[in-house]
Amino acid sequence: MKVLLLSEKEIAGLLTIEEAMEVVKNAFREKALGHAQMPSKVYLNFSNYNGDLRAMPAYLERLGVASVKIVNSHPENPKKFGMPTVSAVVLLLDPKNGALLSIMGGTNITAIRTAAAGGLAIKYLAKRKSKTAAFIGAGVQARAQLFALLSVFPNLEEIRVCDLLPVTAESFVLDVQKTCSKCRSIVVQNEAEAVHDADIVVTTTPSKKPVIFDSWISEGTHINCIGADAPLKQELDPAILKRSKIFVDDREQASHSGEINVPLSKGILSDKSIWAELGDVIVGKKSGRTSNDEITVFDSTGLAIQDAATVELVYNKAKSRKIGYHIEI
Ligand SMILES: NC(=O)c1ccc[n+]([C@@H]2O[C@H](COP(=O)([O-])OP(=O)(O)OC[C@H]3O[C@@H](n4cnc5c(N)ncnc54)[C@H](O)[C@@H]3O)[C@@H](O)[C@H]2O)c1
Repeated sequence: MKVLLLSEKEIAGLLTIEEAMEVVKNAFREKALGHAQMPSKVYLNFSNYNGDLRAMPAYLERLGVASVKIVNSHPENPKKFGMPTVSAVVLLLDPKNGALLSIMGGTNITAIRTAAAGGLAIKYLAKRKSKTAAFIGAGVQARAQLFALLSVFPNLEEIRVCDLLPVTAESFVLDVQKTCSKCRSIVVQNEAEAVHDADIVVTTTPSKKPVIFDSWISEGTHINCIGADAPLKQELDPAILKRSKIFVDDREQASHSGEINVPLSKGILSDKSIWAELGDVIVGKKSGRTSNDEITVFDSTGLAIQDAATVELVYNKAKSRKIGYHIEI
């Protein structure tokens, strides 16, 4: 069996954020229309090491794409091992016969497909005239989210960033300046200053307690909650969620391991608190934002269908450009 091996280096830069948003949008559409198989993520908890590992299979039936990703999240990796918090590997399979088509690095794919979902949420849920954005956490996912944000709002006026590590926040600002010369970008000292009157807030920390509080958030804000993707993680004061219209990527997965998991387990929120899945908004089954005063929250846990759709595009591009290396398994 000939299998295409693709390294992170070969994958980096292969996709634009716009291309990723297009295929991820299609994956959300397929899910909303009932043509996707995607059991919730399966977790192993490496609690001694403040980390976990997830297995994520998905099958997009009408697109004929099946994949399985294995991904970890170890927030202490950068400091302890000089490794990223999140690393992944993906297998692409042929649903016709189960043949393995490709083994590829999944770390860049994870960042771009997560950013694509974040970009779609901003496109569908943020106020049309959004001018300011705040980033809480400026690591790997934040960088990718930045490119998605700027592809939706290229004329944003100001981006504020707050990270526990000043050097990370400062290099984030340099990325903003390289990508968007008209946009003012500033490092701020704390989360409250960052989110004050921001139209869009993007949180990408691995926090297990709220980092954003209710009194700091103005009406009309859209918040992309990206960091909470495992049980016990949370970034928002539940009081924010109580007065927000909550959109999730997947009800089951978000309830188990998304931003809403802690308030749900404490009875602060209930199933009825979820307004819609993002895919339902994309296909027009449910409304998105309906006024400039609503606070909208997108609870992203990261879906295996996002990986499947992105991986297929990477595979096709790599084949047509003759990138990668064939191995016999
Ligand atoms: N939703 C998804 O689909 C998805 C996908 C990938 C990763 N994630 C999750 O996103 C989180 C971040 O992943 P990453 O790859 O960007 O990690 P990273 O280590 O590259 O970045 C995280 C950053 O957050 C900063 N930080 C931590 N606590 C903070 C606080 N209270 N205020 C401000 N900054 C703070 C850290 O200093 C670090 O720079 C993890 O929890 C990861 O599991 C979610």
